[in-house]
Amino acid sequence: MSQARQLTFSIFRYDPQDPNDKPQMVNYYITETPGMTVFIALNKIRETQDPSLQFDFVCRAGICGSCAMVINGKPTLACRTLTANFPSAEMSLMPLPGFELIGDLSVNTGKFMRELAERLQLWLQPNDTDMDIHRIEAPMAPEEAAKLYELERCVECGVCVSACATKQMRDTFVGAVGLMKIARFELDSRDSRTSDDFYHVIGNQDGVFGCMTLLGCQDACPKDLPHMQQIAYLRRKMSISVTNII
Ligand code: SF4
Ligand code: FES
Repeated sequence: MSQARQLTFSIFRYDPQDPNDKPQMVNYYITETPGMTVFIALNKIRETQDPSLQFDFVCRAGICGSCAMVINGKPTLACRTLTANFPSAEMSLMPLPGFELIGDLSVNTGKFMRELAERLQLWLQPNDTDMDIHRIEAPMAPEEAAKLYELERCVECGVCVSACATKQMRDTFVGAVGLMKIARFELDSRDSRTSDDFYHVIGNQDGVFGCMTLLGCQDACPKDLPHMQQIAYLRRKMSISVTNII
């Protein structure tokens, strides 16, 4: 039987609330166990070595999106990352760039997503007739429901934002998560907004025409969402809108 590996985690530590604190990388050492994820390793470090270590989690199953961080240079979910997948026993953990740092590996993705939702109006805006609560429910075509379900799988982890060089260079760019959510409402037949309405929100360099097709979002998305397909779809729609407006 082979001996268990001794893992070294080099973890970013910094408390932005403490004026005397300075960002630093701190090493922690633990023994690898079968099926260990980075999330399990972090919990073990916090339980046995350093209770002050900050990181986020809720579901431990790739559903809540809370545990996203940069693992060996790649943004991804800690609870879905097996330590056994890394040939080297040394791993570095950093917080997601592009978000407000709460402390150590914890960032405020909630604040980012809330501001994005307000900026892009990411909620269903039905016709007035659909607001009638006495109206009989209308069935949705299964094909449309399947397309919406596909885009609803986003867990708002923020990985695509951190993996996008355009977003990191231009803070005002809405990023793949914003464009995916616009695509979701554009597809929804219950939403009263037209392509022209969406054009006024994302038909510019901070929206769908700002994407440089670097593919970081699609490569890193833990839910394998089809960013490029949806961005191409929106671009086609927005191009038709701009010719109508001109
Ligand atoms: S699109 Fe993918 S990477 Fe981006 S927030 Fe949603 S689940 Fe995360
Ligand atoms: S803890 Fe919920 S996605 Fe990782």
